Amino acid sequence: MNLPDYIEASRRTKLKKDIEYYNNDIKNIGLGKTYHIKTYGCQMNEHDTENLKAMLEELGFTYNDNYLTSDLVLLNTCSIRENAHNKAFGMLGRLKHLKEENPNLIVGLCGCMAQEEGVVSEILNKYKWVNFVFGTHNIHRLPYIINEVLNNNTNEIEVFSKEGNIIEGIPVKRDSKYKAYVNIIYGCDKFCTYCIVPFTRGGQRSRLKEDIVKEVEQLVKDGYMEVTLLGQNVNAYGKDLNLGYGMEKLLEEVSKTNIPRIRFVTSHPWDFTDGMIDCITRHENIMPAIHLPVQSGSNKILKMMGRKYTKEEYLTLFNKMKERIPRVSISTDIIVGFPGEDREDFNETIDLVNKCKFDNAFTFIYSKREHTPATKLKDNTPLEEKERRLNQLNEIVNKYFLENNKKLVGTLVPVLVEGISDKKNELYGYTDTNKLINFKGNDDIIGKIVTVKVTSAKTWSLDGELYDK
Ligand code: SAH
Ligand code: SF4
Ligand code: F3S
Repeated sequence: MNLPDYIEASRRTKLKKDIEYYNNDIKNIGLGKTYHIKTYGCQMNEHDTENLKAMLEELGFTYNDNYLTSDLVLLNTCSIRENAHNKAFGMLGRLKHLKEENPNLIVGLCGCMAQEEGVVSEILNKYKWVNFVFGTHNIHRLPYIINEVLNNNTNEIEVFSKEGNIIEGIPVKRDSKYKAYVNIIYGCDKFCTYCIVPFTRGGQRSRLKEDIVKEVEQLVKDGYMEVTLLGQNVNAYGKDLNLGYGMEKLLEEVSKTNIPRIRFVTSHPWDFTDGMIDCITRHENIMPAIHLPVQSGSNKILKMMGRKYTKEEYLTLFNKMKERIPRVSISTDIIVGFPGEDREDFNETIDLVNKCKFDNAFTFIYSKREHTPATKLKDNTPLEEKERRLNQLNEIVNKYFLENNKKLVGTLVPVLVEGISDKKNELYGYTDTNKLINFKGNDDIIGKIVTVKVTSAKTWSLDGELYDK
């Protein structure tokens, strides 16, 4: 049994990581069995799930859309806020009943919650029936862990507090035939005081440029139209490798693969260089859409959050992007109700939002996370007041989403067509600036980039008509 340890998880060593290649000699143990994976959290977890699916299918398991009738259910969990926790524990509650009816059901838990000391001890005490738990650093061990569970009928808890080597070559079963996630950097060394990610995902480790480019080249051969380069802070890419190149160089190289669209998330404002801005403007296949989380507009709160920039510095960067990158759309993340945030601080956030008029924003109430430095801060603001602030903020950000979308009415936009929308008999896709658009057309253009004329705007989407295939 390997259990998570927070002190270990918070340590950072400068030792360079080696690269290991995925290797699995276990076969067929899942033949005749079905699996279901529930995924919570960010794109990194979504992409891990694509790896987990491929590994399970290599073992012979087949995917079942319905967890109620699956032989194996795996929860790929997220720790970022309390409600992500609650969702996963709620699901475990439902699985407990299922397991009472069907003792052969195999239940596993992985992802960020598996890296939390408190969660694993709760599972060991109250959810003893969970068959296996593994963490974010050892997803490649899934075949071995399941083999143990099936053959020896044991409960397997294998969580490593420290990240190990970078594992290349883990198989992947991608959800889309047109858009793909590609990891470029794992972990995070920023330690923003509210955030659990540096503990659950470990230290910053970049993949080699050559491995990333090779993956994108293969995607181009397979007909993919878009890649999203993934990392908690992609702008720090390469810093740990000490090879003299960073995100700008990587973007250059990925651009040369001629993949039609390149996106990247998430950018921390601290590491966003002028060189990167120029690089985006130089390459047509790097999309003019940047996610640039600000978190707060108050310098006092930004300092307490450990974000390492001021409101003014953020605005300078923001304005530079708007000036230099034609048509750029900028989205953000904002936390309200951080400990010590008073009305004045909140008004600073509103002021920043009024200045930036973001194209999209994800807004959250601060959630206290186990062992993070912010847990020690005094928090006097009642939840009702935090909810009022969130509602007020949402009203304002939504107003700007609509305003920005309305400006596009009458213009022609390039759209990667992704499929048929659920509601109406229409196609849907995303513009280069990452806006959802619905329009009528034949399904033979799914997977292609077409030109659409925007005919009307809503808060979260556009409507249009096909202009040119
Ligand atoms: N690496 C990214 C963010 C990843 S987490 C960055 O630094 O920008 C996604 C978002 O969740 C964060 O931007 C933040 O707004 C929010 N978040 C993280 N921890 C949180 C917490 N404890 N409470 C509320 N929101 C949180
Ligand atoms: Fe969390 Fe900050 Fe790292 Fe983003 S940069 S993952 S908010 S610690
Ligand atoms: Fe959640 Fe882990 Fe992502 S905490 S947001 S799944 S890195």
